Amino acid sequence: MEYRNLGRSGLKVSRLCLGTMSFGRWIGEEEARRVLDTALDAGITFIDTADFYGRGQDTGDFSQIGEAETILGRLLKGRRDDVVLATKVYFPTGPGPNEGGLSRKHVLQAAEASLRRLQTEYVDLYIIHRWDAETPIEETLLTLNDLVRAGKVRYVGASNLAAWQLCKALGLSERLGLEPFVSVQPELSILRRAAESELLPFCESEGLGVTVYSPLARGLLTGKYGPEILEGRYPAATRAAAGEERLHRLLTRESLRVVEALKPVAEASGRSLAQLALGWVLAKPVVTSAIIGASRAEQLGPLVEVLGHPLSAEEVRKIEEVYAGSTGQADR
Ligand SMILES: NC(=O)c1ccc[n+]([C@@H]2O[C@H](COP(=O)([O-])OP(=O)(O)OC[C@H]3O[C@@H](n4cnc5c(N)ncnc54)[C@H](OP(=O)(O)O)[C@@H]3O)[C@@H](O)[C@H]2O)c1
Repeated sequence: MEYRNLGRSGLKVSRLCLGTMSFGRWIGEEEARRVLDTALDAGITFIDTADFYGRGQDTGDFSQIGEAETILGRLLKGRRDDVVLATKVYFPTGPGPNEGGLSRKHVLQAAEASLRRLQTEYVDLYIIHRWDAETPIEETLLTLNDLVRAGKVRYVGASNLAAWQLCKALGLSERLGLEPFVSVQPELSILRRAAESELLPFCESEGLGVTVYSPLARGLLTGKYGPEILEGRYPAATRAAAGEERLHRLLTRESLRVVEALKPVAEASGRSLAQLALGWVLAKPVVTSAIIGASRAEQLGPLVEVLGHPLSAEEVRKIEEVYAGSTGQADR
């Protein structure tokens, strides 16, 4: 495994980060244990979760909120200090008007609830999951700063921010002497390249850590989906079959066309399509870590192999030629 500093911080993170959005949502605790053990055995020490990951994401049932953190807390017992644990706050964890967002009240409550579920006294990286247009960012930054001062959080980060939002937040942190965001977590894959236009150049210029999510476009860039998906028929035991709405939105004629065009590129480079897709995000110098998901422990092995076989500049060029040939619809 390779490790890199997270942005300008001294914190070292593995280049592959294990995402746990599947825990309690598509996989139960036993499979989650196998996934986590396989990741740790491969040297993955960076683990990403969020307070609202779990079945509740699909059902909207707040009693099921926090399942991923609860499972992770149990599975990490006795080895918590060996990992860099990231969790997030923003999405509603209850029906009340103050049970979501980035107000001081909610962030403090959510942080305590995450620590309880994760059975830990501190989170290594506490991330705002989205921008909250209804809360002044100063209020959120002051609260995150307090959490760091209280020893409950080591570093703070952000996810799904536009470059201007990140720029505003960093400027305020500097002016007010508060803990700055050390990293951002945008979506990035061959099919979802929006972050490349403004956000990634900004991160490069400011030395921010970049941990990208869904590098396989939620499984679409493994090549497992064919034209039958356009009629609403999905291969068994996939997230599409489980009804993941954000994946369904990616399953378009145009995405399938890009996937088909990438298959010979993968074959020529002696890699699976999944390996090609993961290799593409890791080839970007600005990317610190790629956050991968797994619905089965066996899926991790081929992904870990990618680190030993980086893509050449020529392979990256061939991939980007395929994307440039698309209408761009796959990116929306
Ligand atoms: N900040 C945010 O807003 C945000 C949003 C989304 C995700 N995330 C984070 O990023 C993590 C990763 O996201 P993701 O799960 O969407 O990432 P992904 O790596 O793009 O997709 C993972 C999925 O691809 C399929 N897969 C993976 N390896 C495979 C292999 N070798 N062969 C065949 N299929 C394979 C599996 O789905 P199937 O087997 O079911 O097809 C697996 O669940 C999440 O767990 C979460 O921590 C953050």
